[in-house]
Amino acid sequence: MILNLTVLPGDGIGPEVTEQAVLVLQAVADGFGHELKLQRKLIGGAALKAANDPLPAETIQACLSSGAVLLGAVGSPEFDKNPGHLRPEAGLLRIRRELGAYANLRPAVFFPALEDCSPVRAEIVRGADIMIVRELLGGAYFGTPRSIEGEPGARVAINTMRYGENEIERIARVAFDLAMKRKKRVLSVDKANVLECSRLWRDVVTRMGKDYPEVKLGHQYVDSAAMLLVQRPAEFDVILTENMFGDILSDQAGGVVGSLGLLASASIGGPVGLYEPVHGSAPDIAGKGIANPLGAILSAAMLLRHSFHLEREAACIEEAVSAVLAKGVRTADLAGRTHASISTVEMGKRVVEAIAASVGPALKSI
Ligand code: IPM
Ligand code: MN
Repeated sequence: MILNLTVLPGDGIGPEVTEQAVLVLQAVADGFGHELKLQRKLIGGAALKAANDPLPAETIQACLSSGAVLLGAVGSPEFDKNPGHLRPEAGLLRIRRELGAYANLRPAVFFPALEDCSPVRAEIVRGADIMIVRELLGGAYFGTPRSIEGEPGARVAINTMRYGENEIERIARVAFDLAMKRKKRVLSVDKANVLECSRLWRDVVTRMGKDYPEVKLGHQYVDSAAMLLVQRPAEFDVILTENMFGDILSDQAGGVVGSLGLLASASIGGPVGLYEPVHGSAPDIAGKGIANPLGAILSAAMLLRHSFHLEREAACIEEAVSAVLAKGVRTADLAGRTHASISTVEMGKRVVEAIAASVGPALKSI
């Protein structure tokens, strides 16, 4: 198969981690007989610097004409004073919209080898395998009107949280379908005691749940869900929630399972899928060669699974990552006081080696 990809390295640690993810994709392509075709394009701060636009038309074109998009991260303190549309993040929000990527899947899986990385006791976090399904094109992120107006000292800011029934239906369907392939449990997270958007959300999700009699559907207010995520992480299966709650809860889930650096995501639903690690651009450690590339590498696995239906290849990457972690190999974010740490490049190399070791024998057995 030809794997036609657009890579958007972006800002901060984005280029470092995507480089390792590309090497891993290359190893899998070699091992399974696929051809990787890549083009790299600018987004975020990198694009602002080059073209004064966080998402140049050329980048959109490239993404729309490829089979999938792999993104690193966007964001840089350099642009903190810029108006909203000239911030790096605006590029990310626009590419999500251009690609119609309304469904953001963010798995948070606990790796047994990383017991000591979680701030939560091992017996509590053991077995945690959560799939956060975050609505990605609605809510306060995109609602209008939005503005900051008025004289300094008396300014007023407005954001609008908005959801239509069709937007809730389509994301709920993704969550229920995923749950059918997992433990058949969906927890819908909202703030229905306060927000109209959440009351509509709960109503529509409840109605949709009737189409999935086998799925056990629960509802939880977001504040309470945040507590339960720390208290009983192993009891979750699929979490279904709106854009901003999903943004917050996915970082929290990353903390619970040991490091945000491990979390991958898939943004799907439109014609072309977008895959990115959940961590941001981490400007404080950019360029130091110490970032954890596993979030990006696991995003590459999701890319193979969701955009190319290459399940064996995706599983091969995931198993390689588990195997490497099981050997005690760790980047700085995972090392703590007990382990030595290796660089971004070295971690990528270890995963590539693990893939080569597993694919060699597998191919011979065919
Ligand atoms: C994420 C990020 C983005 C978001 C930012 C960079 C716009 O935090 O992907 O979680 O809020 O969606
Ligand atoms: Mn986030």
